[in-house]
Amino acid sequence: MSSNTNRYDLWAPETRANPLPIYARMRQEAPLVRLIDPNYKTPVWVATRYKDAVELMRDARFTKDARKLPDGTPSKQRRTETMQAINTHMLSADPPDHTRLRTLVSKAFTPRRVEELRPRVTAIAHRLLDAVQARGEMDLLDAFAFPLPVTVIAELLGVPQEDQEQFREWTNIIITPPRDGNMQPIEAAGRQFAQYFQGLMAQRRAEPRDDLLTALLAVEEQGDRLSPIELISMLFLLLVAGHETTVNLIGNGVWALLTHPEQLERLRANPSLIESAVEEMLRYRGPVETTTHRWAPQELEFRGQVIPAGESVLASLLAADHDPEQFPEPERFDITREPNRHIAFGFGIHFCLGAPLARLEGTIAINLLLERLPRLRLAEDPARLRWRDGILVNGLQRLPVAF
Ligand code: HEM
Repeated sequence: MSSNTNRYDLWAPETRANPLPIYARMRQEAPLVRLIDPNYKTPVWVATRYKDAVELMRDARFTKDARKLPDGTPSKQRRTETMQAINTHMLSADPPDHTRLRTLVSKAFTPRRVEELRPRVTAIAHRLLDAVQARGEMDLLDAFAFPLPVTVIAELLGVPQEDQEQFREWTNIIITPPRDGNMQPIEAAGRQFAQYFQGLMAQRRAEPRDDLLTALLAVEEQGDRLSPIELISMLFLLLVAGHETTVNLIGNGVWALLTHPEQLERLRANPSLIESAVEEMLRYRGPVETTTHRWAPQELEFRGQVIPAGESVLASLLAADHDPEQFPEPERFDITREPNRHIAFGFGIHFCLGAPLARLEGTIAINLLLERLPRLRLAEDPARLRWRDGILVNGLQRLPVAF
């Protein structure tokens, strides 16, 4: 649903297909522009310039922990017991909790550890393409871009393959903005999610395995480093991140290539450009359009603007990554762009933990797709493609391709 109270309707379906013209106007206007989020009817300040977005993410005066907000603030009130049970994770924590939680899993996501997953990621990608190769057409998201990262994260965590459809449904409900502020479906999905994990944890306690779930359970049992709620929230965060992001790196990346045939040809001719190409895909249409909320715990001033206590600020990573002050000809998709210091993975202490994994999955997936499907092309007029609702995740609803 969109709102007519906003000068800039970022949420409108027609904006979703291309938010860049609105962001260009917002960048001109001020460091932060205050809008009303039509789904929650609450104010949100949006930073669109690259320098301001970076500054905002490194500014420790803002908090990610809604519990620190003044009583009566809507964002604090929405934190019911159920939401608390899945939201007590590193992305909603400030130091020192943030540091403690992130340290517990950071070793599993270092570039070196992630590189060890290369053969497995490659095998899964081949298997998915084997299943469609003879068909000659597919929805790239459904058949390839989605199942690949989901299988990888589920294996890493130790979540059974057969339960994946459930997660898809729950995570989707939880991250999709509520209709008319109705939190019921989100609450229900959160509750089911937490219950599911209680059951799985009981199984792992009885029968430990070589997975992240077993490792985290061991930490929780030692006592003071991870509470039961933090454990469930951690699993939730990792699963959501694995379900809603890399799928759109692959989807948006392939969309960018197929709508820029000369760049596609360059990459086909020289597959070793894939790493630089993936960086440009992240910059050009990154899967995470805006950061999550950061709040002013008390009134504070940012770049000369006064943010009242309890109000939220966001950085638009997509807008920042198209700031002409930082990127010459930002609207040009150039797979050899250099330098390319995009902030699609955020910045500062909450910089994406999964970046090495997402990069590995994206490079393997796209190169293999081009190698195995030499005639890959769009099966729908690009103007008719529909983009998802909401300003957090930027991605297509479907990406029909033929090959
Ligand atoms: C292309 C894919 C991805 C993109 C563009 C992306 C983007 C981001 C961004 C922008 C943030 C910071 C949000 C903020 O500051 O408000 C973030 C945080 C995070 N991401 Fe990712 N992400 C991706 C994939 C993944 C994957 C595959 C995982 C997990 C396995 C993951 C795990 C996380 C975690 C745990 C955090 C929170 C870090 C913290 O609070 O310290 N991400 N991601």
